[in-house]
Amino acid sequence: MSVAPLHRLYSHYSQLPFSMRILYTGALCILGMGYLFGMLYLVHVYSGRDGNPTNLTYEDLVIAYAGSGKGSKIESALRGPMSAMLPAEEANALVSWAQQGADRSTYESFIRPTIDKRCMSCHDGSNPHLSNFGNYDNIKKVTEQDTGTGFFTLVRVSHIHLFGMTFIFFIVGTIFSHAYVRPLWFKYLIMGLPLGAEAIDISSWYLVKIYHPFAWVTMAAGALMGVSFAMMWFISMYQMWIGKIPAAVLQRGEQDKVVIG
Ligand code: HEC
Repeated sequence: MSVAPLHRLYSHYSQLPFSMRILYTGALCILGMGYLFGMLYLVHVYSGRDGNPTNLTYEDLVIAYAGSGKGSKIESALRGPMSAMLPAEEANALVSWAQQGADRSTYESFIRPTIDKRCMSCHDGSNPHLSNFGNYDNIKKVTEQDTGTGFFTLVRVSHIHLFGMTFIFFIVGTIFSHAYVRPLWFKYLIMGLPLGAEAIDISSWYLVKIYHPFAWVTMAAGALMGVSFAMMWFISMYQMWIGKIPAAVLQRGEQDKVVIG
């Protein structure tokens, strides 16, 4: 059987010192645990956004990154149960003030009188179940629009992920580079894919804000990273401890002996 010669710098796990195999195995175990905890955290944080906490869906991601698309609390109250408390034009003025960012100066001059007159008979703090509209900060809270995770929060999470995940895939990829995998393009693919997917995943978080269907890209990129990680993990572990030494590697061993001899 003729096999393509191996690169002179390639060494199979079986040719590595035992100490390296211990280190690789330990690192794979810890990174595998880390990955599992990471996924558990992800599901915990994101899966309930659409009101159904059992699984992580497209809607969960859209709400997390782009917001629910629903207006603020005050808007839904004024359009719903509170609509009878004031004339429609006053309600509209409150809603547009809330939509335009609920600034303090407009509040002092135009909004406060309406609130004092129309809302404070109930929202004065005497009922602990109702928001107290006696001060600007409390009102401001109910005017906040749900626009998803803020831009700079995403920036913070992005840089942590870009550094952290690159370490993970670099370490696992380096360990996996000792695996004997044919066809070779397949080996290159599972080593390179997660790094590309990482860049696409993180970019897609921002793109979901602009165009919701990018949440599918986020999901696909996440799945690709998971699959590549799992394949590199299992193939490495298997070839390190269980599998037979590949023929090409054994053959090279013979050649080496001839050269040395
Ligand atoms: C007659 C009493 C009464 C008045 C006046 C009133 N509310 Fe309410 N409001 C309630 C009650 C009771 C609830 C809770 C029940 C519900 O949500 O239907 C509530 C709930 C709300 C909520 C959602 C829950 C919360 O506390 O954040 C908002 C927002 C709100 N009101 C805004 C207003 C605004 C703005 C005005 C003035 C234009 C106003 N309300 C006037 C009785 C009142």
